[in-house]
Amino acid sequence: MGKILVTGGLGYIGSHTVVELQNAGFEVVIIDNLSNSSLEVIDGIVNISKQKPLFEKLDLRNKSEVSTFFQKYQDIEGIIHFAASKAVGESVENPLLYYENNLNTLIYLLQECNKNEINNFIFSSSCTVYGEPDSLPINESAPVKKATSPYGNTKQISEEIIFDTCSVSNLKSIALRYFNPIGAHESCEIGELPLGVPQNLVPFITQTAAGLREQLSVFGDDYPTPDGSCIRDYIHVVDLAKAHVVALQRLLNDKGESNFEIFNIGTGRGSSVLEVVNAFEKVTEQKLNYKIVDRRPGDVISVYADTKKANEVLGWKSEKTMEDSLLSSWNWEKKVRNI
Ligand code: UD1
Repeated sequence: MGKILVTGGLGYIGSHTVVELQNAGFEVVIIDNLSNSSLEVIDGIVNISKQKPLFEKLDLRNKSEVSTFFQKYQDIEGIIHFAASKAVGESVENPLLYYENNLNTLIYLLQECNKNEINNFIFSSSCTVYGEPDSLPINESAPVKKATSPYGNTKQISEEIIFDTCSVSNLKSIALRYFNPIGAHESCEIGELPLGVPQNLVPFITQTAAGLREQLSVFGDDYPTPDGSCIRDYIHVVDLAKAHVVALQRLLNDKGESNFEIFNIGTGRGSSVLEVVNAFEKVTEQKLNYKIVDRRPGDVISVYADTKKANEVLGWKSEKTMEDSLLSSWNWEKKVRNI
């Protein structure tokens, strides 16, 4: 069996996926440019799986280095492509950086797939492609709406680039549209490590509880939802990681119904911001300092997944609860901060 290349394999979702791939018997080679990760993540991976993944520090924007990589590793059988920039606000301020980081790198990888006959490609997409849904839960055939940020646009364009490539080559691909990943590995060896002030809800909550942030701002309580705060589908990162293994096996076993398939990866449950805050307080038995502030521009009101296709076609289902997820995030935060 050939190796599986995981780009961005030292990042949050990437590192958890590397562990699940190793647990399933795959040999992994990681590419990461360390722009939003660190080499120590490899130690965390090894402590869990007892296997050291191969690692190449490489920036995928460097086309000739990408080529050299594929000359060195001739036995790659599949690629899981995580490496990308993901901060919505930053993408609005610096759109060209996002188009370069997220699109050029994808194109270079797909060119190498064609050249080296690597035909199995999994792509990290996002529920952001749906925009504000017309109906809920949202399934994969819902329309892709005009993106509200360059980041979201790169996910939409990437799906189109992959679709077009699959149409004219032997490439088979699965795009996984993630809902909101949270949580950490239960061993506390790996987890989310946002640089600077977290933009996402759960790391902001855990950093507030840990005393790094004074107060959580809840962005709006006047939305048309039961408690007025926005609703999302929060999925445990280990469940999400496992979906990649199942999707990869589907490609490797040639089980796809078409050359390009799309699956929602979420829990199917919508939770409001205030429900997440309350669940965190309950599971950690402490009060969280928070206040309601204005809405955050660009937020959709409510989005959660119809997971029927992933359940029935992929044979994958999320297993962990919101409480499992929040407790693991908190345990990880405590470990990182020596609390
Ligand atoms: C966003 C993107 C998603 C992207 C993800 C990566 C959209 C619609 N979604 O997810 O595509 O993959 O970022 O980073 O652009 N909240 C607070 N206080 C905070 C932080 C968040 O109240 O300090 C609220 C938000 O208003 C939102 C919810 O918590 O209702 C989740 O926010 P966040 O974790 O940032 O994720 P999304 O915006 O859903």
